[in-house]
Amino acid sequence: MNPRLGKLQTYPFERLRELLAGVAPNPALRPIDLSIGEPKHPTPALVRDALAASLDGLSVYPRTAGLPELRQAIAAWARRRYALGALDAETQVIPVNGSREALFSFAQAIVSPGEQARVVCPNPFYQIYEGAALLAGAAPAFLNDGMPFDAIDWTGVQLAYACSPGNPTGRVMPLEQWRELFALADRHGFVIASDECYSEIYCDEANPPLGALEAAWRLGRRDFRGLVVFSSLSKRSNAPGMRSGFVAGDAELLKPYLLYRTYHGSAMSHAVQRASIAAWNDEAHVRENRRLYAAKFAAVLPLVQERLKTERPAGGFYLWVRTPIDDAEFARALQRDYNVLVLPGSYLAREAHGGNPGRNHVRVALVAPLGDCVEAAQRMTQFARTL
Ligand SMILES: Cc1ncc(COP(=O)(O)O)c(C=O)c1O
Repeated sequence: MNPRLGKLQTYPFERLRELLAGVAPNPALRPIDLSIGEPKHPTPALVRDALAASLDGLSVYPRTAGLPELRQAIAAWARRRYALGALDAETQVIPVNGSREALFSFAQAIVSPGEQARVVCPNPFYQIYEGAALLAGAAPAFLNDGMPFDAIDWTGVQLAYACSPGNPTGRVMPLEQWRELFALADRHGFVIASDECYSEIYCDEANPPLGALEAAWRLGRRDFRGLVVFSSLSKRSNAPGMRSGFVAGDAELLKPYLLYRTYHGSAMSHAVQRASIAAWNDEAHVRENRRLYAAKFAAVLPLVQERLKTERPAGGFYLWVRTPIDDAEFARALQRDYNVLVLPGSYLAREAHGGNPGRNHVRVALVAPLGDCVEAAQRMTQFARTL
């Protein structure tokens, strides 16, 4: 076996299962699960219809680079969304089977393994970054939430993951931070992988989260050198089961990455490609999706804030809530006494720089219907009153 497999950490949901083993949830209350970030709003009819109308596509092997029409639809979407003067569909875009596999496989293509190889991950973070780094033969280096970039040593860094809007914090990186990160990348020669799968979930219609391509363009880095962005239809279009996303950015990086993907065998089915074209070409369903999340935040926030510390995130559908007691104990007691499932924040982070930055937080995914989110918030507040 590959000895690097032994370095992989238990996935957070497995740890949650272990935490709750033997816990009998209060049978008087119906269960509400807000632990997993799986969108639950319906997949729009235009996506389902396009998929159903394209089943003939199942009879052909798709190309790894995808259909030119899909690459064009993605490039046009990114140019509109991020006010880019140019993004070439041929050389600067590749469709991927959801951002997760791409975030993982990109590290396998980019990292030159070795003792000194390091991959920077935000902390708390999406655990795929860490697994990708370890299996690629690098060590993860953690940048804790709120730490300035110069708090860590960038020597030997080959790849840096950024996540904006962040999971779980919902923070969006401003232009100044991108300027700093680009300058560090230039100085140390690392590549930036910007995970933006929550980019289309935000409350203020007039103020969409800044994207890395947009930041690069505004800062005059118009070849997007050293930068690749990861985006997805899973959250934007409520289609996590379709496994559809894209990477876009530096053509010099995407060329060898496409070669890697050819061997990896990760081409997207034509039927999914046709449905993805329909999704990227439509914004009405995305606005409606945002409206549903905004209504949940508006209803839930004041309830939770009665007793617990939390803020409206700049993006994404998570509440990152401070807990007055240990986060795992909070999650366990909330499940046992109130039948509400949330994820302990410490499971989403690593001990680094003298602490675990997820400690004393829980992540609450507002994916359930509005009524359930409100009910869960009321139960959380009731629970918090007892602490
Ligand atoms: C931060 C982050 N990145 C990437 C993904 C992967 O999404 P997908 O593979 O569905 O595009 C997720 C899924 O929850 C996520 O939370």
